[in-house]
Amino acid sequence: MKNTIPFNKPSIVGNEIKYIRDAVRQGQLAGDGVYTDKCSKHLGSLTGAKKVLLTHSCTAALEMAAMLCDLGPGDEVIMPSFTFVSTANAVVLRGATPVFVDIQPDTLNIDPIAVSTAITQKTKAIFAVHYAGFPADMDALADLAKKHGLFLIEDAAQALGSTYKGRLAGSLSDMAAFSFHETKNIISGEGGALAINRSELMERAEIIREKGTNRSQFFRGQVDKYTWVDVGSSYLPGELIAAYLYGQLEAEPAIRTRRLAVFDAYMDALTPLVATNKVTLPYTPLNCTGNGHMFYLLLDSLESRSAFIAEMKAHNIITPFHYVPLHSAPAGKRFGRAHGDLPVTQRISETLVRLPMYFDLGSDIETVIDVALNVLGNTPRGWT
Ligand SMILES: Cc1ncc(COP(=O)(O)O)c(C=O)c1O
Repeated sequence: MKNTIPFNKPSIVGNEIKYIRDAVRQGQLAGDGVYTDKCSKHLGSLTGAKKVLLTHSCTAALEMAAMLCDLGPGDEVIMPSFTFVSTANAVVLRGATPVFVDIQPDTLNIDPIAVSTAITQKTKAIFAVHYAGFPADMDALADLAKKHGLFLIEDAAQALGSTYKGRLAGSLSDMAAFSFHETKNIISGEGGALAINRSELMERAEIIREKGTNRSQFFRGQVDKYTWVDVGSSYLPGELIAAYLYGQLEAEPAIRTRRLAVFDAYMDALTPLVATNKVTLPYTPLNCTGNGHMFYLLLDSLESRSAFIAEMKAHNIITPFHYVPLHSAPAGKRFGRAHGDLPVTQRISETLVRLPMYFDLGSDIETVIDVALNVLGNTPRGWT
């Protein structure tokens, strides 16, 4: 029996294990040691952000961002319904209300026109998601945020290294949250970071991350003892996680190049399917560069997608889908509300399927392409 081709495989690409050993030798396993510092500095240049704080997940970074926006009961936050649950949970945990809007049919990112019509007196922030690593239309969103005095946050979980009009994801808003979960480009098992671009938020961000204490100021010698000064939680990762992450960050250019090559290879091989009108391929938004995070197909119906997934599975290839729209999920109905109908979200959620994409995919991509071409177009390569 042939080996299964999974849709993701965590990678070890360089010095991860060496750095973990070194971290153990150095004797500090708790957070904010040497490797946390190295990662934060490295992420500063990879995101273009003014300050980067390592967290234990993107979920944690989003929760911190929600606290830093001072969200509370009565406040509304506009976000896409087509996203991971953490974007919304961060808001709900503060007692505020997610207002779900539709996405653009080509980029699959939040639609600024939908955002503009969803703004009310209660709106306090816009949470934009850079889906599949392609940045949302940040200029249009920044204009709206400025006009209405709103916070603008990037959920950049998937977008490390991507650019928008020559600027890096993470530098396009007030704050941005990144993920290093094992399904992302740069990984540490679980892991994340909060990038902050507004100076007045930086000190409070450190405090929230350190259980509501001014411990960071104490270690910098700015106060003579540390104490409980604000609300907070424990959002920092330990040094072993940071050590693994640093090994990955050093290899970031190679990882991005390899993933972009996989993306391009899928694109080249599957483009003939577009003529059948049964398949739509990913779209790169104008003036943006992606990071090869994901390769997806949009099929023509839910039935076609179910059949495709089953056929691929029969060939031992795993092709998952996502997301169940948040506005129609049980918790989404309970804690949030949809702004009008969200037809694009509904359609994309029923027709999107992801192909295997990971650093070590190697020649297995040939198998995935051949089987996909066969299943979707009855045209194995070499027949035309
Ligand atoms: C858009 C988006 N936001 C947030 C998250 C949460 O990331 P983490 O698992 O690091 O908490 C993910 C993870 O898949 C995501 O894709």
